[in-house]
Amino acid sequence: MLNARIAIIAAFVGSLCLGAIVISASDMFSHDHFPIHEHGHSHDNGESAQNQSLVIPIPTPEPADFELIKVGWTLFNDPNLSSNKSVSCGTCHNLKTNGAQITPVSHGVKGQGKRNSLTVFNVSLNYRFFWDGRTNSLTKQLDGPIHTPTEMDSSWQNIHAYVSSSSTYQTLFSAAKRPITINDIKFALVSFQEQLLTPHSPFDQFLQGKEDAITPQAQKGWEAFQKIGCINCHQGSNIGGSLMQRFGYYSDTAEPNGGWVDTGRHAFTQKDIDMHLFRVASLRNVADTPPYFHDGRAATLKKAINIMADVQLGVTLEPETVSDLVAFLHSLSAPRPHILEELERD
Ligand code: HEC
Ligand code: HEC
Repeated sequence: MLNARIAIIAAFVGSLCLGAIVISASDMFSHDHFPIHEHGHSHDNGESAQNQSLVIPIPTPEPADFELIKVGWTLFNDPNLSSNKSVSCGTCHNLKTNGAQITPVSHGVKGQGKRNSLTVFNVSLNYRFFWDGRTNSLTKQLDGPIHTPTEMDSSWQNIHAYVSSSSTYQTLFSAAKRPITINDIKFALVSFQEQLLTPHSPFDQFLQGKEDAITPQAQKGWEAFQKIGCINCHQGSNIGGSLMQRFGYYSDTAEPNGGWVDTGRHAFTQKDIDMHLFRVASLRNVADTPPYFHDGRAATLKKAINIMADVQLGVTLEPETVSDLVAFLHSLSAPRPHILEELERD
């Protein structure tokens, strides 16, 4: 977590040096002013090198306390944590595929929710959590799915009663040398999720100097990503996940979603200034996590890129540029977190 913060701060220092981009720490979570290049798009090598430092490779996870991670993994996959014993964290965050779900919005114990599921892969590298960035720690984040009626509709008291009376968990917790308390249940779930990093994507290898790790088309896409200004919002080790931004600078993006118009951070704070603020989505493994946006409105990357260019940058892209960007985004996909294979084998 600390490393992630430092990386993000480094990214911001990098962006301040660019001059054309003006972001201050206090701007980070509620600013109206979109930091965009307005002074032409020339990129000498110096600036390109700066931009590369705005995007940082995924680190390898800290060495794991395997027994503790195993407790977290078991809890994550256990539907008994939900009120009607039908839904686990893994139902909406599929660990066999992408850490998310491929439906536009998720379905919990009481039917349909309102938002697209976010992937838990690389989640600990985000700075804020949820589409509207409403919590800033993975431990606090846990209260969301546990209590939400459309997700698991349960309580920590119920979960604690169930876990402490289960002989399976008694064995697992004692192997991890931990008592069964609510805090330890949360700690195990968070420690498990912190292991879910996906380093060594082709793009990260490229960033680390292996020039042929990505195709020439993906390289063109990376150039476009910087030149057009996607990088002003999508940056850091998760290529997103660190800033709150208005979804819809150049045109209105509000769409009814089952009769509900999602106003983003505003729905949480009720402040006008937060209207339609959403967390900039992480683009790690993005090719594997359709559909796109908080309401799953875009089925393909091509559609998502065209929407972004239109509503965030006010530009229409050539079809060739869109294809280049698609190729670049594909280069951000890495194999599933390594620890999952170990846990499944164990
Ligand atoms: C019914 C489906 C469902 C279940 C069950 C569920 N989640 Fe989620 N999860 C979601 C959705 C949808 C979001 C995005 C919600 C939002 O932004 O308002 C999300 C968001 C998250 C996030 C934030 C990711 C980010 O990048 O900010 C984490 C972490 C997470 N869930 C972990 C869990 C854990 C751990 C459990 C089990 C205790 C769980 N989820 C259970 C659907 C679910
Ligand atoms: C002004 C900031 C900003 C700019 C510039 C921007 N984005 Fe985004 N991007 C966002 C936000 C905010 C979201 C989340 C929107 C939502 O709530 O659904 C997002 C979401 C996305 C998604 C969907 C990810 C997912 O998992 O659902 C993709 C893909 C994407 N952006 C690609 C791009 C590309 C490519 C560009 C450049 C053409 C770009 N973005 C420019 C802020 C920005």
